[in-house]
Amino acid sequence: MKEHQIISWEQYKATYKHSIEAPEVFWADIADSFKWHKKWDKVLSWDFKKPSVQWFEGAKLNITENCLDRHLATRGDKVAILWEPNNPNEEVVRLTYKQLHQKVGQFANVLKRNGAKKGDRICIYMPMVPELAIAVLACARIGAIHSVVFAGFSANSLADRINDATCSLVLTADGSFRGNKIIDLKIIVDEALARCTSVKKVIVLKRTGTPVTMQVNRDVWWQEELEKVAHNCMAEVMDAEDMLFVLYTSGSTGKPKGVVHTIAGYMVYTYYSFINVFGYSEEDVYWCTADIGWITGHSYIIYGPLLAGATTIMFEGIPTWPDAGRFWAICDKHQVNQFYTAPTAIRALMAKGLKYVNSYKLDTLKVLGSVGEPINEEAWHWYDEHIGKKNCPIVDTWWQTETGGIQISAIPHVTKLKPTYASLPLPGIVPCLVNNEGEELHDNEVEGLLCIKFPWPSMIRTIYGDHERCRLTYFSAFDNKYFTGDGCRRDADGFYRIIGRVDDVINVSGHRMGTAEVENAINEHPNVVESAVVGYPHAIKGQGIYAFIITNNPVNNIEAFTQAVLQVVNKAIGPIAKPDKIQVVTGLPKTRSGKIMRRILRKIASGDISNLGDTSTLLDPSVVEAIKKGAGLIA
Ligand code: PRX
Repeated sequence: MKEHQIISWEQYKATYKHSIEAPEVFWADIADSFKWHKKWDKVLSWDFKKPSVQWFEGAKLNITENCLDRHLATRGDKVAILWEPNNPNEEVVRLTYKQLHQKVGQFANVLKRNGAKKGDRICIYMPMVPELAIAVLACARIGAIHSVVFAGFSANSLADRINDATCSLVLTADGSFRGNKIIDLKIIVDEALARCTSVKKVIVLKRTGTPVTMQVNRDVWWQEELEKVAHNCMAEVMDAEDMLFVLYTSGSTGKPKGVVHTIAGYMVYTYYSFINVFGYSEEDVYWCTADIGWITGHSYIIYGPLLAGATTIMFEGIPTWPDAGRFWAICDKHQVNQFYTAPTAIRALMAKGLKYVNSYKLDTLKVLGSVGEPINEEAWHWYDEHIGKKNCPIVDTWWQTETGGIQISAIPHVTKLKPTYASLPLPGIVPCLVNNEGEELHDNEVEGLLCIKFPWPSMIRTIYGDHERCRLTYFSAFDNKYFTGDGCRRDADGFYRIIGRVDDVINVSGHRMGTAEVENAINEHPNVVESAVVGYPHAIKGQGIYAFIITNNPVNNIEAFTQAVLQVVNKAIGPIAKPDKIQVVTGLPKTRSGKIMRRILRKIASGDISNLGDTSTLLDPSVVEAIKKGAGLIA
């Protein structure tokens, strides 16, 4: 591991230079440390116009041999997954590399027994229990493509995702513990499957003991299936560019997109970025608090850490239960060395006060990470002072579902730290800023649209079933560049500071949401004619959801109407998409061509109504006055 770790500023500069001058040599050298059934014929071929990107073409491998088998000789008895249950009194689970290897093999055999084979898509809708990680790896073991769906999504969203990828199996549990609540996952799956014809089998883990209905010939119990199979499963030999997984994420238009990642490039990049961004050393205990339903969980709970032979913690619960000290209690309990979380969590815990922090030592922490949304200065300093005790570098990691791994981040004890700056690109990453005309801005101290102009191994390959959408969304805005959708500033030192999305995507508590998706959900309410959703600054969530709604009939009871709208959104997408504020309006600011001027709505939503800019192109400027008047009367 050490040989690929950057430990000094000089080394970073030299490595970065080498990585962009000779990318193929650079990545081949890192790839060399893995187990391959056959090495590549060509390191890289690419054409962003199509787009077509291939890394390690011709190579044969199985990623789970690199996550598991490769470590057995040297780290067989080391803890691979350390699981902390929702209830702090329930027993912790420690799975060594040997045990995890066996469990993955065993469950891979269960998948096969239930008809799964190479290339099949398997939907995983599960709580944060070790079996979730085992399931993910078991899919990869047999060459099936996993599609993990965050277990907070509604039946509707789940069904859309299952149908889009035509999954043949669903892996789930009876229920999920979240703080003092139980979520009935199997009931949600049953509701979703009423709309899915591709699913032949459902494998159900018993976790909460919630009563469930098992459909004959379709549903089987996880634990019972395990007893019927052997522990050992030969890894399927895969091509470097075979699909590893699909993960759905929101865009500015339409339904969520199934971002596709392929095996070899994703493997090489998640490993390399993990060991560098977190400065992981052999005895460390690493904890990323994300859910495996998001890319952060895929890359930096499962794949990156296991590829590096690390001990990775999985936490089933939530940060505020039994109290707001839970994260810090876990850090002390398991002697955590690297801690990786989202600004929303930091802000929420900060708001609860220091009494939940001060009783913990937090003296094993070495590196603190942040991901998913911009971290504001106040949260940064609180994290630095009260959690890191001014002793732990904070790595603010910028990346996306589509990038597969961290792109811009400080490297601990190497990069100068600047609060709110993601800082510098990792080796192999070539970011650039462009203006609205697509011209690259070469100077420092500029602001522009963030693009990446050279391929990196873990980049998106396609959108499942819709390659053209992939091209249009990411590769058509600017010639020969991957467009991120983010606005960004580069300072005098060349450090990058992410400003936020420039499209109709909002980032609520680090969760990506398309405004159109939320609007479509709201519009399902029978009394809604039209709606417009925008983000606005929210002290804890980063951005909140503000919905402007036109109704058919006047709303007499705004409280009841709001509740009904929230219900509809909850059902269509899930609780994470529920608007924070709802304002009933009689009209929306539209241009003569019928386009909603969201810029104006964003200003009103943020409480900044003094200067709304040019409204002369509006079809009916008076609607703006009406909305401004009503802005104080919202639910
Ligand atoms: O706007 C950026 C924001 O999150 C978006 C990507 O969301 P998602 O695909 O869900 O992945 C989140 C976890 C990798 C980006 O386009 N974002 C992510 N990290 C940061 C960030 N914004 C500011 N600073 C970050 N460190």
